[in-house]
Amino acid sequence: MPIIDDKKELSELDFNKLSSFIYSNFGIKLPLAKKTMLQSRLLARLKANNIDSYKEYCNFVLSGKSGESEIINMIDLVSTNKTDFYREPAHFDFMKQVILPEYYQNNSEKQFKVWSSASSSGEEAYTIAMVISEFMEGKRKFDFSILGTDISTRILEKAATAIYPLERVDVVPLAQKKKYLLKGKDETNPLVRIIPDLRAKTRFKRLNLMDNNYDVPKEFDLIFCRNVLIYFDRETQEKVINKLCTHLKVGGYFFLGHSESANGLDVPLRQLKPTIFIKTH
Ligand SMILES: C[S@@+](CC[C@H](N)C(=O)[O-])C[C@H]1O[C@@H](n2cnc3c(N)ncnc32)[C@H](O)[C@@H]1O
Repeated sequence: MPIIDDKKELSELDFNKLSSFIYSNFGIKLPLAKKTMLQSRLLARLKANNIDSYKEYCNFVLSGKSGESEIINMIDLVSTNKTDFYREPAHFDFMKQVILPEYYQNNSEKQFKVWSSASSSGEEAYTIAMVISEFMEGKRKFDFSILGTDISTRILEKAATAIYPLERVDVVPLAQKKKYLLKGKDETNPLVRIIPDLRAKTRFKRLNLMDNNYDVPKEFDLIFCRNVLIYFDRETQEKVINKLCTHLKVGGYFFLGHSESANGLDVPLRQLKPTIFIKTH
């Protein structure tokens, strides 16, 4: 058996302990192939905590001594936050063509409530805000709100700040860029920021989809749960969708990511399109 220098290396045993802790508490799968990635990302956490071996760090976290804030910092390092404005645009077309006209006709006095349940850095939530604002142009305005939640505090800070490198908004139509984005003055580091009106409609908070209960309002009109369930096993996916659905009104809509499916899951949803569902009961 090779001797591991646990000052420099994360042993397979410690990797397995950490990865099963992360999986059972956060649903994030880390196969052994991710060991080198985890080792290099954790180095910063060892330094921040003045710990000089991976073994000690592992004990620190798993014994409960580290407290929740260190666990959050560790999760920040392992979550995959890839996202984009107008990602999987068929969902936004469906909002424009079906959901918003239907809502407008039937209940436009109530607030239209949307939950982006794995919001990452906010691109999904702000795309939703742009789509709703566009829909209201030339029509009687209605009130709306968007809640973005994610497990990663680091990414939620970015979401709330709403500042993005200019190239991230390439996909946003020019007319919408003019209305909904403010351009920074520094030409060497071109940045844009979402306008205050849209930021005021959007709020972010930390939420672990693995929690037993979600501390968010009931009766959302629409829930986005895209590109996060892919990390969970089928049993966890079923539980998470059911918990999310307790916060969705009957007749409300539910979106999954394009490589995810609810086939074979016992959930109160009827499929309308491959990744678009309506709550039935
Ligand atoms: C790949 S991003 C998807 C972002 C966005 N929904 C999209 O489709 O573009 C997945 C997000 O899920 C978050 N996440 C992972 N596990 C989570 C959990 N247990 N609870 C809440 N969010 C989680 C990650 O932090 C990450 O920001």
